[in-house]
Amino acid sequence: MSSSRPYRQLQEKLGFRQPLPWTEHWSAAEDFLLLIADHCLNHQPERILECSSGLSTLVLARCCQLNGRGRVLSLENGGEFARATRDNLRALGLEDQARVLHAPLEEQEVNGRAFQWYRPPQPLPQDIDMLVVDGPPGFLQPLSRYPALPLLRDRLAKGCHVFLDDAAREDEKTIAEMWRRENPGLNHRYLDYQRGCSTFVVG
Ligand SMILES: C[S@@+](CC[C@H](N)C(=O)[O-])C[C@H]1O[C@@H](n2cnc3c(N)ncnc32)[C@H](O)[C@@H]1O
Repeated sequence: MSSSRPYRQLQEKLGFRQPLPWTEHWSAAEDFLLLIADHCLNHQPERILECSSGLSTLVLARCCQLNGRGRVLSLENGGEFARATRDNLRALGLEDQARVLHAPLEEQEVNGRAFQWYRPPQPLPQDIDMLVVDGPPGFLQPLSRYPALPLLRDRLAKGCHVFLDDAAREDEKTIAEMWRRENPGLNHRYLDYQRGCSTFVVG
């Protein structure tokens, strides 16, 4: 097994017995996944919501399994990606720890602007204590992930930790600035990771 194999550290840390399924350019980078895994293992959240599914879903589900508590709900706009993540969860014995909802993108108005955003097939839970935002893809629209906070804010518990991936991009820097301006109680930290990560704690 080569020591340069992608996601090796993550695989060993979480005790995955088989190589993790990943996609170049689309799977979250290992440093971001290690960060959310460490948070999940240390804070043991009960209700994790994720915007976009994939390798991050498997990682968070495995952390919940190791914790013996917590569950992941993942919003995925692509039907085939939702199916692929469900198949991977099953193959890894993690189907009890995560549920992938096929949530097609639909135009929704957010603070006077139209965005394509997830339309889940059922109401989302309250008291979410961890939110991971790694979708929708940035190429779809300007400020693609901006709606996450305005649309989900009421469902986040006090102290909820929010992780915004790809935060080194100009769009995500603007999104972080907008979220801070619109939510004065939000505690923001930028991490100089491979693709950048912004973390927020809901006050
Ligand atoms: C950055 S990816 C999400 C990655 C996920 N959080 C992970 O760690 O694997 C954002 C979205 O892109 C879409 N996507 C994933 N793989 C793709 C691919 N190979 N081609 C096009 N779109 C893809 C899916 O709809 C996914 O929800």
